[in-house]
Amino acid sequence: MRVLARLDAAFNALYGWRWNPLYHSGALVVTCFAVLLATGLYLLLFYRTGAPYASVAAIDAQWWGGRWIRGLHRYVSDLALLAAVVHGFRMFAQRRSWGPRALAWVSGVVLLGIFFVCGWTGYVMVWDAHGQLLAAEGARLLDALPVFSEPLGRAFTGEEPLPGAFFFMNLFAHIALPIGIALFLWVHVSRLARVQLLPPRRLLWGTVGLFAVVAVLWPPPLGPEADLLRLPATVPTDWAYGFWLTASRGVAAGWVWAAGGAMALAALLVPVLTKPRAASAPPPSWVNPRYCTGCEQCYEDCPYEAISMVPRDDGREGTVGLVDPAKCVSCGVCAGSCAPMGVGPPGRTGRDQLAQVKEFLAGASLGPGDMVVVGCWYGATGSTEVAGARVFPIGCVGNLHTSVIEYLVRAGIGGVLVAACPPRDCQSREGVKWFHERMHNGREAELQERVDRGRIRVAYAAAGEARVLRDALAGFRAHVRLLEAAPGEHDFNVGAECEVEETAT
Ligand code: HEM
Ligand code: SF4
Ligand code: SF4
Repeated sequence: MRVLARLDAAFNALYGWRWNPLYHSGALVVTCFAVLLATGLYLLLFYRTGAPYASVAAIDAQWWGGRWIRGLHRYVSDLALLAAVVHGFRMFAQRRSWGPRALAWVSGVVLLGIFFVCGWTGYVMVWDAHGQLLAAEGARLLDALPVFSEPLGRAFTGEEPLPGAFFFMNLFAHIALPIGIALFLWVHVSRLARVQLLPPRRLLWGTVGLFAVVAVLWPPPLGPEADLLRLPATVPTDWAYGFWLTASRGVAAGWVWAAGGAMALAALLVPVLTKPRAASAPPPSWVNPRYCTGCEQCYEDCPYEAISMVPRDDGREGTVGLVDPAKCVSCGVCAGSCAPMGVGPPGRTGRDQLAQVKEFLAGASLGPGDMVVVGCWYGATGSTEVAGARVFPIGCVGNLHTSVIEYLVRAGIGGVLVAACPPRDCQSREGVKWFHERMHNGREAELQERVDRGRIRVAYAAAGEARVLRDALAGFRAHVRLLEAAPGEHDFNVGAECEVEETAT
């Protein structure tokens, strides 16, 4: 999706791809959740359901602590919602929303809903004019449902003071909902291997520090105390949790429910609506027991825990890999993991890739000085014409069997530029990470020692970063020219290349 590609490229230019917050939006929500728990516990020490507004005002009067902690709690709750929407949108735009990922999708929608309701109850706790507005609107909406025998709205007419039980129930909900968040988060990531729950340290502490500084310098104002006899006509509302108030207040409750319900239903149905037709859906991977030696590498590497090792039933000793099609998203990472090329989605195994590269070379008449870009479909090569080089497309560089690179180099071409997506943006979650390990750190199915590494380079270029790819190619071409002029003097700089890996994990 073009918007996403442009945004990613802009953020990469600003932060560098290692710390691009868009790539870590899910992990940033988890960071926010942790900060909310910590700051919330502090606020809870001083909050009184018997005197909600006065207790928040007392917290606000603690200029050394309570004021900025309340500010941090509020700002981070806004960030959590924003980051969750960005993260969900990324998953949608990258089509990571159907098949085995449906569980993560649906639980993500539920998580977003819980975050929203939790924030709602949080604002009501303050019991200022904004909280009053949220509470009264909530009561009006709930009264439209056949749930309560007595209309809740009556409590907000001002005829009688609000019962203390209201604030107690609201506080109870505000504390219980995070338990629901923790439970659904567990479900959310339950099908993923090695989940990255937190962003890289620099991004984590940078974000928390930045929001803390903002909370110290610009603590959120405390609005006027709620007054049931005077429901204010206009109240400054929070953009994240109160954005809908203006639209909803003038509309019958039934319509608000209908609109909200339709949006929730549409979001929940995304896995069904985005599922490709059977004919175009990428088929799951499978293991060919004839080639499988039982090394367990695909079982280790699969980012979706879709492979298990089972006893062989073909008369040979040991175990053999077995793919569970219900868990396999067809990312193809296993194809790059298997030295004997015994596993992968049909048509994308190491063996298939070798056959394809042979065909590619046969039809290309390439020689010394010519460049081949082995490019990921989802990255810059998928969206760009690469001038001055032939492109050998590969699903994701995580699929790439290192023997394909070896084959290209041994065929005598000038250089092989592997164009990968930035590691944390890998469509297959861990494809780029494992590719890097095979190239530089001897992970099983590694690039063999005998291959001339001076002829190989890896560039990280996201879909909107055609320029990055072009520059990398130009730099590499210059390097290859030097190589051809004086072979042996310009060796591959393993150290510089390996630096990337620090943040690839
Ligand atoms: C609201 C709180 C949310 C949190 C804390 C959260 C967190 C996470 C985390 C940590 C991951 C794993 C990232 C990785 O290691 O690769 C993940 C994956 C995922 N999330 Fe969320 N998420 C949230 C909301 C959502 C929403 C709203 C959606 C979409 C509606 C969503 C859809 C997904 C999907 C589909 C995956 C799996 C990606 C894949 O299989 O490749 N999440 N989430
Ligand atoms: S990586 Fe290949 S050889 Fe090793 S267990 Fe998987 S299929 Fe078998
Ligand atoms: S294609 Fe391979 S690595 Fe990817 S989910 Fe399926 S079994 Fe796992």
